[in-house]
Amino acid sequence: MEAATGSLELDLEPHHGVERLAPGAYVLRGFALPCSSEIRMALDRVTEAAPFRHMTTPGRRRMSVAMTSCGAFGWVSDQRGYRYEPVDPETGRPWPAMPETILRLGREAAASAGFPGFEPDACLVNRYAPGTKLSLHQDKDELDFSWPIVSVSLGVSAIFLFGGERRQDPVARVRLAHGDVVVWGGRSRLRYHGVAPLGDAWHPFAGPCRINLTLRRAR
Ligand code: SIN
Ligand code: FE2
Repeated sequence: MEAATGSLELDLEPHHGVERLAPGAYVLRGFALPCSSEIRMALDRVTEAAPFRHMTTPGRRRMSVAMTSCGAFGWVSDQRGYRYEPVDPETGRPWPAMPETILRLGREAAASAGFPGFEPDACLVNRYAPGTKLSLHQDKDELDFSWPIVSVSLGVSAIFLFGGERRQDPVARVRLAHGDVVVWGGRSRLRYHGVAPLGDAWHPFAGPCRINLTLRRAR
């Protein structure tokens, strides 16, 4: 192992079980493992049609996370602000359809966390390279906050930051490994969250990168 990966941490341990982070917020350990190779293939088709790109914030800063989307709506950030769009501004075409395996995973994870009937219409795909982080933010560009956010972690593990409803509230640090799914809704729907800078590691899913899917009901 040492010889193949040098000093990189080999990141392969599976986990199972459910952890409650807060009211309405759960980590479903290993929930996506059974469909991870299907997701891998589906993501190749998505990113062929809608390649990863670095978007800019309304303040004109380049986001370090590479992003794309699938589903009826894609999340977009530029100088005009944050919003959901039915057409990919990079390609001029509708976003690729949400792959069935991702849709099913979203429904099942939400239902397992107490949110039956969740029908995501947007899936943001985030790619984190080593050193990439996502600053604390709320997901609030969606129309109806009674639907949860379902977040699927794939590849290299990361430290997920889960705070409160105010930016200055204390932040829990939760290690998310390949296949872990976090669902937050209900009283936790508008909690601040983010991702600490990704470490140097390697995982067969995406080499040195972490891929995160967030499934949302945008409209
Ligand atoms: C997000 O907040 O959009 C992504 C969270 C994550 O990458 O775990
Ligand atoms: Fe988010």
